[in-house]
Amino acid sequence: MKQLAPSILSADFICLGEQLKQLQKLCIHYLHIDVMDGMFVQSISFGMPVIAARSVRQSWKCSAPMMIEEPIRYVNALRQAGADGLTVHAEACADLPGTIAAIRESGAKPAVCLSPKTPLSKLDGILDQVDMVLIMGVEPGFGGQTLIWETLEKVKQLHKIRKEQGLFFKIEIDGGVTKENARAVAACGVDIVVAGTAVFRGDIEENIHVLQEEINTEGQNAS
Ligand code: DX5
Repeated sequence: MKQLAPSILSADFICLGEQLKQLQKLCIHYLHIDVMDGMFVQSISFGMPVIAARSVRQSWKCSAPMMIEEPIRYVNALRQAGADGLTVHAEACADLPGTIAAIRESGAKPAVCLSPKTPLSKLDGILDQVDMVLIMGVEPGFGGQTLIWETLEKVKQLHKIRKEQGLFFKIEIDGGVTKENARAVAACGVDIVVAGTAVFRGDIEENIHVLQEEINTEGQNAS
């Protein structure tokens, strides 16, 4: 069963609590909370206070992609705020293996992310150290962009590498997933699909049902 992870970047922050309650009723318990610093990406989003918020902490698994320069500086603070998974951008770390080790030592699950233009070779030597690889389907920093289809080639290659090398990292895609393309995206071999606009724009309940249906419709995973 593939997992759908709503990205709260696209939520209505005036009624975030209400929207989270709606997601809980729909048995969604895994949130994608983009931490952005205005340096690594243009946007500034949110950080520890949102992750630590009681309404989030009490019933969510939070994966926090750290779209920030030198994320090692905030690993412990985000873990203490309650993040279960911490994803770092390979492009933002001077010492990627050291940053991944620091996440593991903090007790959070380490994951690494590649922006669209970054080749898979950037992950040479570390795929056996992470719990998850996040492939960006769009340039990081904003919701509502159009999926860059070429990024799915990296998903297919990762799926192949994982099988060939007997590794166990999960593959996640983030950015540009819609109700219309979700089935094709999922068929490329992802385990977790992140969606912001497609979840929070319009009727959340209907969006969730359609997206979950689409990502779990039988379709051969890419070989
Ligand atoms: C973009 C963020 C995504 C975004 C989801 O940098 O990482 O999580 O919120 O975007 P859409 O709206 O395309 O699903």
